[in-house]
Amino acid sequence: MANMLRLEGKIAVITGAASGIGEATARLFVEHGARVVIADIQDELGLQVVSSIGTGKATYFHCDVTDEKQVEETVAYAVKKYGTLDIMFSNAGTLGTLGSILEMDMTAFDRTMNINVRGSTLAVKHAARVMVGKRVRGSIICTASVESILAGEAPLAYIASKHAVLGVVKAAARELGQHGIRVNCVSPYGIATPMVCKSFGGDAATIEARICEKANLKGVILDTKHVAEAALFLASNESAYVSAHNLAVDGGLSSIMKLN
Ligand SMILES: NC(=O)c1ccc[n+]([C@@H]2O[C@H](COP(=O)([O-])OP(=O)(O)OC[C@H]3O[C@@H](n4cnc5c(N)ncnc54)[C@H](O)[C@@H]3O)[C@@H](O)[C@H]2O)c1
Repeated sequence: MANMLRLEGKIAVITGAASGIGEATARLFVEHGARVVIADIQDELGLQVVSSIGTGKATYFHCDVTDEKQVEETVAYAVKKYGTLDIMFSNAGTLGTLGSILEMDMTAFDRTMNINVRGSTLAVKHAARVMVGKRVRGSIICTASVESILAGEAPLAYIASKHAVLGVVKAAARELGQHGIRVNCVSPYGIATPMVCKSFGGDAATIEARICEKANLKGVILDTKHVAEAALFLASNESAYVSAHNLAVDGGLSSIMKLN
């Protein structure tokens, strides 16, 4: 199994793939035989990821996921370049800024909802339109979060947005099942990626230590590769009958209440 190419010949678009979980997933998907369009707003970083993966296996396309035209163009680019679309990994997201609901900045709230919820919905919509039109029994995956299940330490808008992403996934899975299209999400616990370091304000080592201290599962530190492996499972045929599922990559945290 370890040596098998699990996505041989598959074409994927990954949003937010210039960094963190998206980048790790792009690398893993390519290792498993996929061709990947890396879609992001960080052009320089995205192009660096492509050149380190190899231009024959990945390409970069600028895409702000809040802009419907850009999402549509990104999907159209993948189809034009590679002929089809088998996998959409809607992963771009923002954590936003911490603060009390009593002082909530509704512009910041809208921004988080825009990127996380509208962005995911647009990715699902345009991937599904192509898959239905081409009769591709594809796999659509969204990155939600452990915060789609519980209210942890993230800002309120982030928690609300990730609960909403789960709703988008379930509703889309309900409608798209008739076309053989599966829609799922991955829900990681904490990783000290740039998004997290920026929002919580601190260096990666300090934030990682804090995450580990609060983790349920000890002896392993969650990293982007673990989430990429979960996305690979959902993208591949090994999950052929899995849809509307929220795959928590959280060491059990969201199912446990610690009493001490
Ligand atoms: N790191 C964690 O602890 C954690 C936990 C649970 C869920 N997540 C989710 O994982 C996803 C990826 O985050 P990450 O931790 O890898 O952070 P990251 O900062 O490494 O990557 C996020 C990427 O999204 C891109 N992005 C942001 N806004 C965008 C937009 N409007 N259009 C296109 N791209 C945009 C950024 O440029 C960046 O490359 C997010 O959806 C996040 O909510 C992260």
